[in-house]
Amino acid sequence: MEYRIDAVVEAFSGAERVCVFTGAGASKESGLPTFREIDGEWKHYDPMTFATLEGFLSEPVQVWNMYRMRQRQIGEAQPNGGHSVIAQMERQYPHFLLVTQNVDDLHERAGSRKLVKIHGDCWGMRCLQCCETYDTRDFDFPAEFTTETLPICPKCEVLCRPDIVWFGEFVPDDAMHAAVWSSSTCDLMLVVGTSGEVSGGYGFVERAAMNGATIVEINPTEGILTQHAHIWVPEPAGVVLPKIWQCLTMYK
Ligand code: OAD
Repeated sequence: MEYRIDAVVEAFSGAERVCVFTGAGASKESGLPTFREIDGEWKHYDPMTFATLEGFLSEPVQVWNMYRMRQRQIGEAQPNGGHSVIAQMERQYPHFLLVTQNVDDLHERAGSRKLVKIHGDCWGMRCLQCCETYDTRDFDFPAEFTTETLPICPKCEVLCRPDIVWFGEFVPDDAMHAAVWSSSTCDLMLVVGTSGEVSGGYGFVERAAMNGATIVEINPTEGILTQHAHIWVPEPAGVVLPKIWQCLTMYK
C-alpha cells in the first residue's frame, strides 16, 4: 500500500469526529521500548510473571522492582513530536478522544487532556483488598523494594499492586465505554504504534471501519490492523506526525 502525505492531510482536513488510538510505538522516539519488537520488554521480562496477577502474587518484589525501573525510565523520558501533535489535535476537532494503551504519561505531559488510558497508569498502585488507588509519587518509596518495604495500603495495610491492566484482566468500564463510543462514532481513526496483538481483541478499529470512518495507521511495520487501514504510513510516529501536522496547517 502506497501512501501520499496529501491523502493523509485531506483525510484530516475533512474530519470532524476523530479517535486516536495509540500503543507503545508512539513513545519510541522518546526512548521507551515497545513490548513485542526484537528489543521489546516481553523479550526481557516474562509476561506471565510481570503482567499477570498470579505472577505478581508469587514474585511481588521482583514485579514491583521492574515497574519501579520503568517509572524511572518514564520519568526521564520526554514527550516527542508525535505526542505533541496528538495533543494539538484535540483542540482542533470538537469531537475528539485519545484512547491509549500506554501506561506512561507522555501524552498527558505533551498536553493531552481528552484521553482514556485503557491499560492503567505506571505511576498508580491499587490495594489488593479495598481497591483504593494511589499515586506512588505521593509516598516516600525506596528506589527498590524489599519484602519488608513493599507498598502497603494506608487504610487496610494490605499489599498494593501496580495499577495496570494485566493479562486476563478487564479494561475498566468507564474507559472501555468511552473508547467504544469514540471508535464507533468517529469519521477518522488514527492508529499509532500498536501491533494490534492485544488491541485487535477490543475491536476498536473494526468498529470505526464498520461506521465508515477513514482509518489512517502510522507504524513502520505492517501488522494485523493494517488490513483495515485506508492509508498506512510506514514511518516513525515521532517523525512523521509533525510533518503531517505542518502540511495540514499550511493546507488550512
Ligand atoms: P507492541 O510492542 O505490541 O507493538 C508496538 C508497535 O509499535 C509495533 O507494531 C511496532 O511496529 C510499532 N512501532 C515501533 N516503532 C514505532 C515508531 N517509531 N512509530 C510508530 N510505531 C512504531 O505494543 P502495543 O501494541 O502497545 O500492555 O502492546 C499492547 C499492550 O501489550 C501494551 O499496552 C502492554 C502489552 O502487554 C500492558 O502493559 C498492560
